[in-house]
Amino acid sequence: MIKKVGIIGSGTMGSGIAQVAATSGCTVCVYDMNQGALEKSKSNLEKVLSRLVEKGRIDEDEKNRIQGNINYAYKLESIGDADLIIEAIVENLEIKQKVFVQLEGYLSKDAVIASNTSSLSIASIAAACKIPERVIGIHFFNPAPLMKLVEVIPAVQTNPAVLEKVVTTIKNWGKTVAVAKDTPGFIVNRVARPFYGESLRIYEEGLADFATIDHALKSLGGFRMGPFELMDFIGNDVNYTVTETVFTAFYYDPRYKPSFTQKRFSEAGYLGRKSGRGYYDYTEGSVKPIPKEDDALAKTIFDRVLVMLINEAADALFLNIASAEDIDNAMTKGVNYPKGLLAWADEKGIDWCVDALDNLYDEYHEDRYRCSPLLRKMNKENKTFF
Ligand code: NAI
Repeated sequence: MIKKVGIIGSGTMGSGIAQVAATSGCTVCVYDMNQGALEKSKSNLEKVLSRLVEKGRIDEDEKNRIQGNINYAYKLESIGDADLIIEAIVENLEIKQKVFVQLEGYLSKDAVIASNTSSLSIASIAAACKIPERVIGIHFFNPAPLMKLVEVIPAVQTNPAVLEKVVTTIKNWGKTVAVAKDTPGFIVNRVARPFYGESLRIYEEGLADFATIDHALKSLGGFRMGPFELMDFIGNDVNYTVTETVFTAFYYDPRYKPSFTQKRFSEAGYLGRKSGRGYYDYTEGSVKPIPKEDDALAKTIFDRVLVMLINEAADALFLNIASAEDIDNAMTKGVNYPKGLLAWADEKGIDWCVDALDNLYDEYHEDRYRCSPLLRKMNKENKTFF
């Protein structure tokens, strides 16, 4: 049973994870090498909890209890008595490895070490440790206290008992767990790529502008935000880097090829909301462009992006990245998709998916449109995902 949690890194993710663990009753010690970051984390938590009290979600006693569960430390050895350590520092393999090596000197042999990395392989982090069997990936989404999904990633070295312990703990913290293979992007950051990539491609071909593509995905698909709105929200620099990392890590599979449009927007400093301009203008008084009213075009756009997403989800299942349930949960709970993609495939019909992909492939003769062997097999056998 995990009672004491150590968090390394008190930035956006570390602070959020600390709040989740403390709320569920664990004693938490947060360590950061930057004293200012620790102070900021503490004062942010005060603000967040005060807001929850104002809204009536928690009372003053609960707020005090959560805050009382968290200690802040300026020395790594202060978290030496934790049962579970979650690291959320800068996304750099050498730095993470160095911290893990140092950390192991302070820990009991049964303590579990986890990384919140979004893009590094858990195997490579574990390889730096004396006991690699205790190392695992625990990938929270931002903001950690609000997002339901947590991806748990065992490395090839991870002991199955460690996986079981972590899954139980994260479920006890009120989260939905999706267990993913240690492959680039895990589930969400892999399966979601076409939402951005295919939309950018449609724009680059000149089929439609940003507003029309966004409108198609929202009105026909029920997505809360269109792809361009979402990229502007995430930040074009951040979103581009994730795409490029996934593309490189997949040995340049053309399916994940980044877009020049996004690269140029990023280079130009059109990062999105945070810079006041991205695909849209966010400066005061700016008027949002009106989407083109064309039902047939909207359907073409929506069908194309959806089938590419379904293909990615099906291929993730084909390659045993995760179970069908976990893949669908990951997309609905990690990025708020209106439906699980595999359930959506069942609804549209597997034959429709295969036809739509084959039509794209016939038109372009590009590998990015290759249909997953799983969809093809299921179509032949008349099977559905659920
Ligand atoms: P951040 O920049 O907000 O916070 C990182 C913190 O780590 C800073 O306070 C910094 O002082 C501290 N730090 C850096 N090097 C350190 C070291 N050697 N020892 C101790 N403390 C150190 O970063 P953020 O966004 O919280 O990301 C942390 C990790 O979580 C990264 O691996 C990132 O890829 C991952 N992640 C980030 C998400 C996001 O949306 N921001 C989502 C999911 C995962």
